[in-house]
Amino acid sequence: MPSFEEEVRDGLASEPRSLPCRFFYDEIGSKIFEEICELEEYYLTRVERSILRDRADEIASAAPANATLVELGSGSAEKTRLLIEALIRKQITLRFVPIDISRSALIESSEGLLLDHRALEIAAICAEYDSGLRILDKAAGSPRMILWLGSSVGNLHKPQAADFLARVRETMEPDDRFLIGIDLRKERDVLESAYDDSLGVTARFNLNLLARVNRELAGNFDLAGFRFRAHYDEESGAVESSLVSLRDQKVEIGALGLQVPFREGESIHTENSYKYSLEEIDTLAAEGGMASEARWLDDDGRYSVNLLRPAD
Ligand code: AVI
Repeated sequence: MPSFEEEVRDGLASEPRSLPCRFFYDEIGSKIFEEICELEEYYLTRVERSILRDRADEIASAAPANATLVELGSGSAEKTRLLIEALIRKQITLRFVPIDISRSALIESSEGLLLDHRALEIAAICAEYDSGLRILDKAAGSPRMILWLGSSVGNLHKPQAADFLARVRETMEPDDRFLIGIDLRKERDVLESAYDDSLGVTARFNLNLLARVNRELAGNFDLAGFRFRAHYDEESGAVESSLVSLRDQKVEIGALGLQVPFREGESIHTENSYKYSLEEIDTLAAEGGMASEARWLDDDGRYSVNLLRPAD
């Protein structure tokens, strides 16, 4: 994976300018993301949690017998708890393999879970998804249920999303299952308010990317010189986030020896959050070599939790 330095150099030289969303999550950005998840307008976290809470036993019965639960990007594992408890009710004991790049999140969440559940065994892997999946081959028992929550797949372009599913598929045996949370297409106003909230938390989340360039690469971005914009492109299904320059200005990035001119109205693309229809989820699964086995939605059809199996 290219470093922050490399991505900033390439992204600010490209046309249109862009900075990748994976760099949102430094210590400050991760805290702001937690604030986003609590927002009324950002329904994703709340609705996914309600599906897991209401349907946990059904999901657990659809899991393979005596499954090991693996989670990609486990974070606080707060929503996963609901599934862990249901799996322990079903199979008495459970092996849980959380994969996350944050060592502190792994330690904190594992300690909390172990304190509450005597029948739980945890083998935490501190790694990015791809290397985590490679290590997994040795660390996790079989069969497995691999969990990927939060509609994180939405931050990948469709072909990259299918490639990622195919890489997960390569690690799967016929009895393994992939449980993936995916946000659904819906009305523009609901989506645009979810990504441009009235308290300006998501704007702060995006602007932190410029602040991070200032902190880590001796940049001199004037944060007041940019405004945040979230636009839903109905055709592609992506909410596109960007930071728009409010005036003609030049930004210096000392550590890269770079001077970047901006025209008024010129934007830096920061993130895509793709929304799927149910048919698009089936297509994504098929492109990744998987098939839909079961699906759970909330009553208003805003969000989906999908159980996928390796395709024959
Ligand atoms: C982590 N990811 C799925 C979030 C999303 O909905 O695209 C990140 C986010 N960006 C703005 N709000 C939340």
